Amino acid sequence: MEPSTQKLIHTFGALADLGQEVANTEDFTEMVRTSLHLLLGTLALRRGAVAECNNLGTLGCVAIWGLDHKFLEEFSLNEQEQRELLSVESPALLVGASNASFLQRYRDLLTTEGIELAVPMIVRQELTGFVLLGGKASGEEFSTDDFETIRAMVRHIGVGIHTHRLIEQVAQRAEENRRLYEELRAIYRDTVRAFAAASDIKDKYTQGHSERVSRYSESIAREMGWSEEEVEGIQIAGYLHDVGKLVVDRNIINAPYHIDAKSSSELNRHPAAGYEILAPINHPYADIPLMAKYHHERLDGRGYPDGLTDEQIPLGAKIVSLADSFDAMTTDRPYRRRRSFEDVIRDLRQNSGTQFDPKVVKTFLSLEDSLWKQLRAICR
Ligand SMILES: [Fe+2]
Repeated sequence: MEPSTQKLIHTFGALADLGQEVANTEDFTEMVRTSLHLLLGTLALRRGAVAECNNLGTLGCVAIWGLDHKFLEEFSLNEQEQRELLSVESPALLVGASNASFLQRYRDLLTTEGIELAVPMIVRQELTGFVLLGGKASGEEFSTDDFETIRAMVRHIGVGIHTHRLIEQVAQRAEENRRLYEELRAIYRDTVRAFAAASDIKDKYTQGHSERVSRYSESIAREMGWSEEEVEGIQIAGYLHDVGKLVVDRNIINAPYHIDAKSSSELNRHPAAGYEILAPINHPYADIPLMAKYHHERLDGRGYPDGLTDEQIPLGAKIVSLADSFDAMTTDRPYRRRRSFEDVIRDLRQNSGTQFDPKVVKTFLSLEDSLWKQLRAICR
């Protein structure tokens, strides 16, 4: 076989290896290092380096062989030098002969270190960096074939670095988006808590009511096998179910006796008013306004505001309804003392199927986690 054919086959083999290397984005630095070694090995060069051009115009060493690691630290390119290199026709610049300002500025340093070629990596009209190469171990001049090999292999490395940068940028944006999303969720949760606190504060006898309803609703939903997202949704609905009380007269809410029919119908406006407040908001979870609207509905149709019956009431509203009633019965109210735990359980069982959904009651009574133990202690 002719030596030139052998060399050609070897070069193709090296290019194929390089193609595999640049496709492997898992270990970027290792990829560039192996690519540089392949390039140096193919042409039998003594030394070389791959330098990445960063935003500030400085060069960062990605891979280096046969040179001091600190060699590239002193290099930088101004904007004019970058523009000049982008318009250069030749793919490889001879350090000793090039007119490029950048090379003129560093010619002495490069020559002292034995660098003979500087090959700009230009991808999509962007100067990605340089491959700097020393002379051949044999002392021969670079041939036209050598320049072709260098051009092809440096192009591969440049595309690999460019792709890596893009992947990094995408990952960075994804991380920023994730952080922004988390911030928005935190703001949303804080707003929800502020709303809940506002409706609780108005009712001096039910401090913390919304938070407890939220916790009970969450436990029931989780026990019923709801997804984490749905559980978060009902947590929010628990917090907001009484937000409509903001539009009800404070004296009616805090009346220390059983209120008359007129005041009662005024108070009973709060689920529909809550819906009006919550519906225009773009909640991250579905059905929150409806859970607030229907938390005083009953299976037998005797609830309010719409007198819905069993299947017409969303399951979330049925859960919030039970959690709300449980908390109302187990806390002191202006016109009555809280009831005993046994009494409340008896009430839930008695009203299962008429006021409450039997599946929700059964689930609530089956809760055996720490919350349930806490409830028992609270009600004792
Ligand atoms: Fe309510």
